Amino acid sequence: MKKLILAGLIAVSSITMTGSVLAGDAVAGKAKSAACGGCHGFDGNSLIPTYPKLAGQNEAYITKQVKDFKADTTRKNEIMKGMVAALSDADAADIGAYFQAQSLKEAATFDESKIAAGREIYKGGNLQTGIPACQACHGPKGSGAAGIGYPQLGGQYVDYTLAQLKAFKSGSRTNDDKKLMRSIVEKMSDEDMAAVANYIASLK
Ligand code: HEC
Ligand code: HEC
Repeated sequence: MKKLILAGLIAVSSITMTGSVLAGDAVAGKAKSAACGGCHGFDGNSLIPTYPKLAGQNEAYITKQVKDFKADTTRKNEIMKGMVAALSDADAADIGAYFQAQSLKEAATFDESKIAAGREIYKGGNLQTGIPACQACHGPKGSGAAGIGYPQLGGQYVDYTLAQLKAFKSGSRTNDDKKLMRSIVEKMSDEDMAAVANYIASLK
């Protein structure tokens, strides 16, 4: 009995710990994100398919992307390079904390006819071609893994997701540590990528 209570306590305290590990300050981040809202939506629910939604995206991932755009080596984008030029690491963490605290309003539109094939890849990968299941890292609902900075994907626009998969494949985006994504997309066909991008858009 004592053991059970202790195990319960440890479980509860580790949940509250991971739930509150936000180095950034979401209140400060709200003010600092004003310039981002025009494209990403003030609450992170972007209205334009080429501008990624940031609502619910985890702080660690956002902070890393801001750094990467700033460094302009492994993830290059002219618009974002300009947007983040003046942000400090603390600003990036505050903005990340703000967007992480927002909720995705709705799933993006998607092509229903691609969902079955996309679900298969997302949930189970493809043994023949060696594609691993996306959910192993991005979660069964596409919510990512905040503690280790693996990105949320669910509800994202098809156009944006597809553009990123293609960027990893062509080697124009190389900011995935240990080639985690590049080693996967090299095994994916255009049809695989389109199918899984549509399935991802349907998740929330
Ligand atoms: C003029 C439009 C515009 C503005 C304003 C803007 N962004 Fe972006 N942002 C983009 C585009 C376009 C991309 C996609 C870049 C790519 O294709 O790699 C992007 C990508 C991102 C990403 C990567 C998202 C992901 O899922 O990997 C982050 C994080 C981000 N922006 C943060 C910000 C922050 C923080 C600000 C404000 C300081 C900001 N953006 C302002 C257009 C904008
Ligand atoms: C071994 C873990 C792992 C697996 C499996 C994995 N991913 Fe990823 N993925 C990552 C990591 C880590 C990143 C972030 C890289 C970075 O730092 O920018 C990422 C980034 C992405 C992005 C860019 C997100 C954004 O907002 O720009 C997309 C899209 C993506 N993955 C889709 C997939 C799909 C589709 C699959 C399955 C076919 C998959 N991933 C399987 C680890 C993984």
